[in-house]
Amino acid sequence: MTPPTKPTNIVIVGASGDLTRKKLLPALFNLFCNGLLPERFHVVGFARSHMTDREFRSVVAETLTCRYEPEPSQCDIKVGQFLKRCHYHTGQYTNADDFRALGRRLESLNGPYASMLMYMAIPPSVFLETARSIREAGLADEETRDWSRVVIEKPFGRDSRSSAELTAALGEIFTEQQTYRIDHYLGKEVIQNLLILRFGNRIFEPIWNRDHIESISIAFSEKIGVEGRAGYFDRFGIIRDVLQNHLLQTMALAAMEQPIRLDAKEIAEEKNKLLRATQPMSLDETVTGQYEGYRDDDGVPEDSITETFVATRLHVNTPRWYGVPFYLSAGKALDTQKTELVIRFRELPYSLFPGVVGNCLRIRVQPNEAIELVVNNKVPGMALESAAVRLNMLYQEEFAAELPEAYERLLLDVLRGDRSLFIQREELAAAWGIVTPALNQIETERIQPQIYPYGSAGPAVPGFQEGQHCGS
Ligand code: BG6
Repeated sequence: MTPPTKPTNIVIVGASGDLTRKKLLPALFNLFCNGLLPERFHVVGFARSHMTDREFRSVVAETLTCRYEPEPSQCDIKVGQFLKRCHYHTGQYTNADDFRALGRRLESLNGPYASMLMYMAIPPSVFLETARSIREAGLADEETRDWSRVVIEKPFGRDSRSSAELTAALGEIFTEQQTYRIDHYLGKEVIQNLLILRFGNRIFEPIWNRDHIESISIAFSEKIGVEGRAGYFDRFGIIRDVLQNHLLQTMALAAMEQPIRLDAKEIAEEKNKLLRATQPMSLDETVTGQYEGYRDDDGVPEDSITETFVATRLHVNTPRWYGVPFYLSAGKALDTQKTELVIRFRELPYSLFPGVVGNCLRIRVQPNEAIELVVNNKVPGMALESAAVRLNMLYQEEFAAELPEAYERLLLDVLRGDRSLFIQREELAAAWGIVTPALNQIETERIQPQIYPYGSAGPAVPGFQEGQHCGS
């Protein structure tokens, strides 16, 4: 893959935060090590806290590990080269003059025509005002530079209305083409693979429908709770934090029709159609839970009803999917750490062999990325006995190379101007349409989540265990 060539400034607004340290800087460094950043690039952190370039560089240095360059002396050289391109600028997010000063700084680093990537790693409360200051300071202009792109992170609102308001307000500041709404799940290898797996294999696509598929389950579980993030999490809950974005995006890719071309617009259009055909989540088919001890966290009110677990059955009204349940679940403080899809195929209408079971495809997003197909097989020996066995493709065994981190892929796509792994405004609205009625009902009726022990399997959910069962 060839790197973008034009001189480019990468500005991280909110450079002192967690996301910058844990994801953005390591991802940029890895792109640099792989020769995928433009030759003339600069990374500039912008935030309120006072820091010199030197102090910032020592913060950056702590975040870098050489995933692709194990040789220590080479690694040190790369780190040194990368740090020289890192700078820091102190300013208030809502002050256009501070962004003008940043603009002058960028010009002195990389000339007046350099392209501009602005990553908004800031809290939603200051988001719009910051965007306005950036615009006012002329940093979003594309007249003098090749391009200026802005990357934004969820939460994109709290419900259909607030999200639509945010989209409209942002639309007055940046064009849709300039706006890259990130969902890091779309940058994960196995999620990207859904398209090839489905549309690149003759053995799957013809049977990928209600005639052959019994159910689809998408399950996300984490062992940790909301440690350290309760202030944010309690205002959102897991439906907004994970289901509305990561899980619905995964479902859209797993169930949409084949796009006519592999470009951002066509892919978004198919995802959008699938999401619009999905019935809004009903609380009659939903279980919410909260782990024991959640309310003891700083920043969580004693009577919080915020859900840390959700399981819901969704229905898609299309000829392909009518009658097939989609089991979506997400939970924190559970007994396992994994994200996976399970596609359960129907049983044969008739079989000669007793005991054969419906086939099943498990797509493990993380950890230990894998694709596993469960088939019926004769048990070796004199008897004619069948057993369900796994054809198991482990990424680590099959592909020796280190898998790129989601943020590496996504940042590179922003630099290359490829929007296919980013969320477009119509599909965003469609996804909010699925969850908003249930969220409103939970809030107005103050529906209590079921309390479950920290580190357990979460509340019992009828039908779900079966949906997630895949020959094991
Ligand atoms: C984030 C959520 O978007 O995704 C977090 O805000 C969650 O609550 C995280 O922990 C999970 O991401 P990953 O890549 O670790 O599965």
